[in-house]
Amino acid sequence: MSTARTHSTQSAAGNAGHDGYRETLVAAMFSGLILVPALGLGALVMYNDWRAKEDIRIAAYEASQAHERLIAGPAGPSLPVQLAAHGRDVFMSACVACHGADAKGVQGLGKTLVESDFVARQSDDELHHFLVVGRPNATPIGMPPKGGRPDLTENDLAALVVYMRGLQDPRRMPELPAWAAAAPSATQQASAMQAAGGDAELAKYIASGDTLYHTTCVACHGPAGAGVKGNGKALANNEFIRSLDDDGLLAFIKQGRSPTDPKNTTGIQMPPKGGNPAMSDDDILDVIAYLRTLQGPTSTAGK
Ligand code: HEC
Ligand code: HEC
Repeated sequence: MSTARTHSTQSAAGNAGHDGYRETLVAAMFSGLILVPALGLGALVMYNDWRAKEDIRIAAYEASQAHERLIAGPAGPSLPVQLAAHGRDVFMSACVACHGADAKGVQGLGKTLVESDFVARQSDDELHHFLVVGRPNATPIGMPPKGGRPDLTENDLAALVVYMRGLQDPRRMPELPAWAAAAPSATQQASAMQAAGGDAELAKYIASGDTLYHTTCVACHGPAGAGVKGNGKALANNEFIRSLDDDGLLAFIKQGRSPTDPKNTTGIQMPPKGGNPAMSDDDILDVIAYLRTLQGPTSTAGK
């Protein structure tokens, strides 16, 4: 009895043990059926995530190599010389202040356009569109639409695109005629004569200053000193200009005003000579003679 009970107990225990083992096995199999795909799915998600990140990394790397690829590849056809030359002339008046005469950028102002991967990646149409809209909200300093020159025509912009292609790949740049600064227009000469009150010599300085201003200073200070939002201040009716004599202004313009200068109010650099090292003292004095004509009725025109 006790044996039987023991036996039955043993047997029950044995059965139970056996069943437990099987249940564990079945449970393991089921959980395996769920776990393995779940783990697999997890791994797949992780892989896809990694793949996506990797694709972004590769795309970013390739985008960052656009200019390198351009110059390592076969050269494109030579660029049309007339458009390239016109583009260079427009560049030297509209873009030089921020991007430099060699287009390699100016510290604290515009970036290099020569090695720009952005430029290399854009189609001609995209680049044209970029010039129209600029990048006015970039920090610490933006690029104004059309570089602050609303007067640039579609043809000027198309020529700039051609010139930038040549900057990026010198193999495509045709030999350009020498660059010469534009002479004052008839309108500029007439208004200079008026401002000078008929004094022909003074009128000559003012007209020259007008032309120089509208090439070197206009990008940041706007046409006729109206100012450009986010860049230079207005120079028309300007207290600072009125407060200084010609020598004082000459000294200021030659030196500029760095963003760390305590007198700087915009946090943006006024580059020495407006970023145009080719300007002589006489050139700057001409610009000053022109600036005097923008100071309203109380101005002390003259040099
Ligand atoms: C007032 C200064 C200023 C003037 C003038 C200016 N730019 Fe810029 N430009 C900038 C700044 C600043 C940037 C970079 C903005 C940023 O941080 O993304 C820039 C960026 C660019 C870029 C994009 C470069 C890149 O790699 O992202 C191109 C192209 C360009 N400028 C072309 C021109 C051309 C052509 C002109 C003349 C029509 C011009 N710019 C005039 C300030 C200027
Ligand atoms: C790349 C942009 C840039 C160019 C080009 C430039 N300036 Fe400026 N200029 C500035 C900025 C920015 C300031 C204001 C700096 C500050 O915050 O005090 C300034 C300030 C001045 C001031 C002082 C105004 C004041 O109220 O304090 C004068 C004068 C001036 N510029 C003249 C010129 C002349 C003349 C040229 C051309 C030969 C020129 N600038 C070219 C950016 C420029």
